[in-house]
Amino acid sequence: MRKQIINCKRLYHQNQYFFNPKADLKTVLREQIPIKIQGFNEMKKKYGDRVMGEITVNQALGGMRGIRALFYDQSTVDPIDGVMFRGYSIPELHELLPKLRKPSAEDFQSDQQPLPEGLFFLLLTGELPSYHQVELIRHEWDVRGKVSDELINFINRLDNKMHPMTMLSLAILYEQKTSKFAQLYNESKLNKSNYWEYTYEDSVDLIAKLPRIAATIYRKKFKDGKPIAHKDGLDWSAQLAHMMGFEGQETLNELLRAFLTIHADHEGGEVSTHASHLVGSALGDPYLCMTTAYTGLAGPLHGLANQEVLKWILNFVEVHGYDVTNRQIEDYVNTTVLSGRLVPGYGHAVLRRPDPRFLHLYDFGNKYLRDNEMIRLLHQMTDVIPRRLRTFKNISSPYPNVDCHSGALLYQLGIQEYQFYTVLFAISRSIGCLTNLVWCRAFGLPIERPESADLAYYNNLFQNKIPKQEKDDQ
Ligand SMILES: CC(C)(COP(=O)(O)OP(=O)(O)OC[C@H]1O[C@@H](n2cnc3c(N)ncnc32)[C@H](O)[C@@H]1OP(=O)(O)O)[C@@H](O)C(=O)NCCC(=O)NCCS
Repeated sequence: MRKQIINCKRLYHQNQYFFNPKADLKTVLREQIPIKIQGFNEMKKKYGDRVMGEITVNQALGGMRGIRALFYDQSTVDPIDGVMFRGYSIPELHELLPKLRKPSAEDFQSDQQPLPEGLFFLLLTGELPSYHQVELIRHEWDVRGKVSDELINFINRLDNKMHPMTMLSLAILYEQKTSKFAQLYNESKLNKSNYWEYTYEDSVDLIAKLPRIAATIYRKKFKDGKPIAHKDGLDWSAQLAHMMGFEGQETLNELLRAFLTIHADHEGGEVSTHASHLVGSALGDPYLCMTTAYTGLAGPLHGLANQEVLKWILNFVEVHGYDVTNRQIEDYVNTTVLSGRLVPGYGHAVLRRPDPRFLHLYDFGNKYLRDNEMIRLLHQMTDVIPRRLRTFKNISSPYPNVDCHSGALLYQLGIQEYQFYTVLFAISRSIGCLTNLVWCRAFGLPIERPESADLAYYNNLFQNKIPKQEKDDQ
């Protein structure tokens, strides 16, 4: 079965490349890049002048919804099937990506969570890594994860009134001075053919440092501020939990592995990913790009929704407790929507079914926390709320999204400071944004520059007041 799925995906990508499961990630990438560039250039030459579609005024005014005009190679989102990472669905990733312990032949279906280190490899190369390759990444991230005392002091001096996402963005901006890409560019030592390589080097450095940076923010903002020493031999997720102060809590480690894998990427149009892509198109280094991605993620319609969900649930529980009727939940939804507020954790700009990332976390809750009162309430809510939201005719998608369950699981497993949840999303999203950036540099994508028009233009366009030549030029 495993072989069948893999062969089918390789066919999907028309993969001509001979994959060596012993080679390290950078070697695989270095071998793939010329092959992929050739394919990219051939496609561009063949179809570059073809028309892809038309747009309506509503689309131009409505957040460019449904306009396909971005190139993004590593994940796609289907309204029904949800996200596919290099062609692999979330259940397939769950089955096929390497886990912490190599399962024996008999328990191949083992239910351990995949390691996000493996997803990094998959997103960069389109290939499923071997256990050996993931171990190399784990080791490399461990070694490159040390941060300077200067940076720790900088974080510890930030005003505790700041949101943790603000602290994260500032910390990454502070660390920008360590960018190899920026330094070599300034010294005129880079040329277009090696842009990708130093983007890759910065990306690995940045990803490797995130557990220490995030844990420092967590302990400064919510605990006693004392750092917890790094522990040799842990994977990226367990290291993060350990340095936050959750020592040896394997269920939490598993949740973080799942969380940091499934939030990594969601095609190129999402605010955080697109923000980093846009800044990257002006040759910003990975630190600049990720600062932008994080500030985009910090908006309540995007990544901040995971903290909002928990706040919304806790407010409900404070009044009604955990043992509630469906009617009480419906009334709460009504009050929220009719007072012009959002029901966080529901709805999506693209998806028209329950989000597979939500389903993955739902199963996790069922497996580890089935009898927990908050998880039971959440399951009841995910049954009742979509039916209620469907009655509001303007809402296109009443289904639970990725943020619906994540906060409650983190809360029940000990991370109760919900302002921190978006930081966890940000750590994961760095994998998607940065792997995209490496390929943007390899393909040599140009600076992004769409055009805008003023109100007079839109008014005049359909009254034939704009001469045809000018229309075409615009
Ligand atoms: C995700 C989201 C931003 C998508 O927005 P969208 O593409 O504009 O969604 P729709 O086309 O369904 O929006 C149409 C209307 O329904 C409203 N709507 C959508 N989801 C809603 C929700 N969960 N609760 C209340 N109203 C909602 C929108 O605000 C919009 O209102 P308007 O007609 O007054 O402008 C939206 O569903 C939302 O805000 N959800 C709650 C926040 C959240 O969970 N975000 C995380 C997303 S992964």
